[in-house]
Amino acid sequence: AHLWRGVIEEYREWLPVTTQTPVITLGEGGTPLVHSSWLSGIVRGDVWIKVEGNNPTGSFKDRGMTTAVSVAVGEGAKAVVCASTGNTSASMTAYAATAGLTPIVLVPHGKIAAGKMAQAVMHGAEVIQVRGGFDECLQLSRALADKYPVALVNSVNPVRLQGQKTAAFEIVDALDATPDLHVLPVGNAGNISAYWLGYREYADAGLATRTPQMWGFQAQGADPIVQGAPIAHPETIATAIRIGNPASWHLATAARDESGGRIGSVSDEQILQAQRDLASHDGVFVEPASAAGVAGLLAAASAGEVEPGQTIAVTVTGHGLKDIDTALSGAGALVDAIIEADVDAAAEAAGLL
Ligand code: F0G
Repeated sequence: AHLWRGVIEEYREWLPVTTQTPVITLGEGGTPLVHSSWLSGIVRGDVWIKVEGNNPTGSFKDRGMTTAVSVAVGEGAKAVVCASTGNTSASMTAYAATAGLTPIVLVPHGKIAAGKMAQAVMHGAEVIQVRGGFDECLQLSRALADKYPVALVNSVNPVRLQGQKTAAFEIVDALDATPDLHVLPVGNAGNISAYWLGYREYADAGLATRTPQMWGFQAQGADPIVQGAPIAHPETIATAIRIGNPASWHLATAARDESGGRIGSVSDEQILQAQRDLASHDGVFVEPASAAGVAGLLAAASAGEVEPGQTIAVTVTGHGLKDIDTALSGAGALVDAIIEADVDAAAEAAGLL
């Protein structure tokens, strides 16, 4: 039997750790790569969904948090801080808890999904709600880490991207090939940069014959890279990617340009439709932001911009249970049969009669 040991032990030689680094892990990584017959049919290719919601705290952030928190502990940190739209804070607080660190979390007031808030609270964080968006929270957390003895674990910490790049390794390892195209959501722009790093390292080491095109999708209203300028007041229902001035902007555009890819945007309606369709066709329930890549791929396919016959990897970044309020408000009309406990009434309500 092979027990998955978490991304540090599985990919140790690729990561900035030494034998002295304590390994703080919750067994992250090793997530499913699910074949989507639905999307494969639409694009007339082979589409694989990398289900990152299956990580221990329900998002891809755990890959970078195991490395960032391990390195921080190795350097003697006693407290860690991050700005977050919810998933980074959920992840950081879990890893801080197991490492015995004090977690400090800065989030936009009233703009993070309830499940993510519950995670930070349960893991024992000091949750500070800031009147402002993610971009202001990130400035604050940088300033705190400059002035006080707390380690910053946002993705401006390069060790985060190092951990996150392991998802690209897993995809190449699982497919025994590099996809033609890799599609994913873009918020603070760390993850697209991390995947590109991972794909390039495997190719440089001769473990892959090539690199994929990187296709990233922002939410309209929070799409500064598409607009070519920061957005002061970003708005989207996909709160995880409600970001107006991504920290890894230039790494992301480099990934786009070096790979011959693109960064586009999709509307909230396209995101919610893709979220519902992915859940009902493929059995994969993701949070709204996570569906931005799927929505972008669908939009490109209907515009005739996806060549047939390709192998395509699509990362869905976070679990649907993170944000059930948005899911239920979209599906409210479907949950409307209330009956007495009677078999015929149930049959009628179920449309079997
Ligand atoms: N999808 C989800 C579910 C996210 O939580 C995030 C980012 C992204 C996509 C975008 O990834 O920032 O690397 O481009 N969430 C951060 C957070 C900002 O604080 O949890 P990115």
